[in-house]
Amino acid sequence: MEHGRASKTALRVAIRRAAHQITDDPRILNDPIALPLLGPGFARDLDRASHKVARDFRAFMAARSRYVEDRLAEAVAAGVTQYVVLGAGLDTFAYRNPFPSLRVFEVDFPATQEGKRSMLREAGIALPGSLTFVPLDFEHKALADGLAEAGFDHHKRAFFGWLGVVPYLTLDAFRATLNAIAQLPAGTAVSFDYAYSPDTLSPPRRKVFDGLSQRVAAAGEPFQLFFTPEELESELTRAGFHRIVQAGSEQLNQLYFQDRADGLTLSSTDLGSLATAWV
Ligand SMILES: C[S@@+](CC[C@H](N)C(=O)[O-])C[C@H]1O[C@@H](n2cnc3c(N)ncnc32)[C@H](O)[C@@H]1O
Repeated sequence: MEHGRASKTALRVAIRRAAHQITDDPRILNDPIALPLLGPGFARDLDRASHKVARDFRAFMAARSRYVEDRLAEAVAAGVTQYVVLGAGLDTFAYRNPFPSLRVFEVDFPATQEGKRSMLREAGIALPGSLTFVPLDFEHKALADGLAEAGFDHHKRAFFGWLGVVPYLTLDAFRATLNAIAQLPAGTAVSFDYAYSPDTLSPPRRKVFDGLSQRVAAAGEPFQLFFTPEELESELTRAGFHRIVQAGSEQLNQLYFQDRADGLTLSSTDLGSLATAWV
């Protein structure tokens, strides 16, 4: 990514979540901060919201956030009090956090965080006392160090959300981050999405992947890391995670997209999957 510039893909994902708030009924993800954060200029992006590709991506963006927030709620019910949003971008959980005992750490490139802070200021959205920003590049700084400087307690369990980030990383940075999480106390978990290896995709999926891949590369944030489900499973096992659950479009459709009058669903040309792993 271009040094010193806020992530463009973070903005695109936030636009899709905001579009979901006003174009889909019922919502998979209820996010009353999504629209105010983007401000009045957002409406021009709605023209394309009914196109099939836009609907497919929007459904996945909403579902993956909902899935991670559902896993987080389970972790909190089990006593977890620290939530780390890795590559947080314009994620809004911290500003609508319903759990009084939950501290939230947003980890991201400093430039992306500066851009977000200025959008929050312009929208008049207050920074909650439970939130700490952790400026960090996964490629150049150890996650454990960044979190320690931010007051994260390494003796306590934590839940990590890591959405829309893994395909942009090098394998070394991915492994270092997983290893850091795996060092934390039992009961710690991480939930993230990953992209399937392009060579394994069917021709229709490959076409969708090539389009997306070109768009993110043009935004200066090219995809570079892919896995098959089996490869991903071995990465997680090797890092020391004990329980691993993967959820692809079939499971997500069953969980969140049943019996909808508007037909919103996860497309059969899905390009990746979600994984949750517990220490
Ligand atoms: C597609 S956005 C996803 C943002 C957010 N997780 C969401 O779902 O809305 C990717 C995010 O990962 C961050 N990111 C990518 N590579 C990173 C790195 N090496 N270190 C820190 N953050 C990184 C970007 O700044 C951006 O916020």
